[in-house]
Amino acid sequence: MDHFLYRDGALFAEDVAIAEIAKAVGTPFYVYSTATLLRHFRLFDEALDGMEHLVCYAMKANSNQAVLQTLAQAGAGMDVVSGGEYLRAKAAGVPGERIVFSGVGKTREEITLALKGGIRQFNVESEPEMLVLDACAQALGVTAPITIRVNPDVDAKTHAKIATGKSENKFGIPIAKAREVYRMAADLPGLDVIGIDVHIGSQLTDLEPYRQAYEKVAELTQTLRSDGHNIKRLDLGGGLGIPYARSNAAPPLPMDYGQVVRDTLGHLGCEIEIEPGRLIAGNAGLMISEVIYVKEGEGREFLILDGAMNDLIRPAMYEAHHDIIPVVEPAVGAEQRPIDIVGPVCESGDTFAKQRLMPPLSAGDLVAFRSAGAYGAVMSSEYNSRPLIPEVLVRSDQFAVIRARPTFDEMIKRDTIPSWL
Ligand code: LLP
Repeated sequence: MDHFLYRDGALFAEDVAIAEIAKAVGTPFYVYSTATLLRHFRLFDEALDGMEHLVCYAMKANSNQAVLQTLAQAGAGMDVVSGGEYLRAKAAGVPGERIVFSGVGKTREEITLALKGGIRQFNVESEPEMLVLDACAQALGVTAPITIRVNPDVDAKTHAKIATGKSENKFGIPIAKAREVYRMAADLPGLDVIGIDVHIGSQLTDLEPYRQAYEKVAELTQTLRSDGHNIKRLDLGGGLGIPYARSNAAPPLPMDYGQVVRDTLGHLGCEIEIEPGRLIAGNAGLMISEVIYVKEGEGREFLILDGAMNDLIRPAMYEAHHDIIPVVEPAVGAEQRPIDIVGPVCESGDTFAKQRLMPPLSAGDLVAFRSAGAYGAVMSSEYNSRPLIPEVLVRSDQFAVIRARPTFDEMIKRDTIPSWL
């Protein structure tokens, strides 16, 4: 459920008309709903009710400071994967003890930054990283709390580019090697081994892979405890999918996911962490774009928008589906025609949808891409020298620009000319 609904024939974000925002900021732009962000965060929080837990929002999904503050004020922790994300989380007021640091390639600088600034735990992904972390901690005279990410070798049944829990993926250490790696970690004086981490992929629409992975984690917890490790925290990753197409069956709800956690791990007395990103931010955001032209091709029509693959890369990169709806509600029973929906970038890949059934639209009309709040703005670029598009946050009847569109001048002036030119 989200808060983007038609009212009297016009699309609203909470109590603000999309057309009004478009008038104020120009198109294309992203718009997020505070109520939806908070609702999704609370669904996860409630799903783990009764178990000691922390929901660490995977801020890679949408790391705008205003989004982070909204969630942090509601009690969210953060899952960060870079020094930049760590500093963004801190800047949004998240204390170090609510930040977990994930990622396969943490540098010495990033590790030191987090050790100095305070960190809940590092989710370590390899032996070489463990050694570097130990050295950095010792150099600072501190101990680094760690979990080790295990790769449970389960098939998350999602798009190949966002599956992470198979042995062929670069993530974590093979679960079969875990005892050996935990032994090594326990011998390093700069590390404090406190738990296990697992994350099997993103946009999961089935709970079975979670169940399989978490059963393996439960077994591993007992084994490691019998080896003398103090396993008290389990970080279960993120990945729960969202309904991208209204027409498809809805993926499982956070409540059902919470039940899987309880069933598989509830008996262990561990503190639970989860790292959802997409389910919190995805359906809390739209990308709004204007029709520039309707072009008659050979045997097909093209809807050419002012938004492009540089603004929302998911269709080009993952063949992802986004529902695209007109901002003015089509009349009941309005005729629908198949049309290719494309952007102005000079690549055939700049195609949002092929032969999508749409009501009649013409130049100047606005359309909304649904489910664009996660991995939208954060993955955008200035390809074709198209300035990054603005982000807007709505709360009830108020809206605010939370990242302004740079001017062409600002974009160009970021480059510098060498003295020899
Ligand atoms: N934790 C870890 C360690 C992760 O790598 C990820 C996502 C998450 C949590 C959050 O997963 P979520 O709940 O958002 O599914 N750009 C892609 C998605 C990449 C996901 C990467 N890791 C997309 O647009 O579909």
